[in-house]
Amino acid sequence: MKILVINGPNINLLGLREPQIYGKEDYNFLCESITDFANKKGIEVENYQSNHEGDLVDAIQNAYNKFDGIVINPAAYTHTSVAILDAVKAVGIPTVEVHISDVSKREDFRQVSFIRLACVKTISGHGIKGYLEAIDYLIENYGK
Ligand code: DQA
Repeated sequence: MKILVINGPNINLLGLREPQIYGKEDYNFLCESITDFANKKGIEVENYQSNHEGDLVDAIQNAYNKFDGIVINPAAYTHTSVAILDAVKAVGIPTVEVHISDVSKREDFRQVSFIRLACVKTISGHGIKGYLEAIDYLIENYGK
């Protein structure tokens, strides 16, 4: 099984960025944790991050016929992007939405998630561990 992990804007600044909300670990630590976890589970994983909406759409489109699952934290684009929602719908790859913080307990504008409409599961507020739970969910439900 091959899983693509996609992170949106400002996730590259983990550790520096509002550590009281997003924690002290940086983006490299996140990628290493994901890669180590995938290795232990015997699956392939690729990490991708961009601050640009169109690049995220391209990454989802390019996953077609190459990946069996997507884990995505679209960050701020969660709350605005119909283009990212449509890309996930278009490729039809089982996708799990992840948020490091518990968005349900934050500002009103974070209560809307466009991408959720196309996702098989949402994990929110579990920190970096949420990405590993998402990978586990994809393995258990879509692994081959
Ligand atoms: C986030 C939550 C979003 O509202 C925010 O814009 C982010 C990160 C999270 O992981 O908790 O950039 O997706």
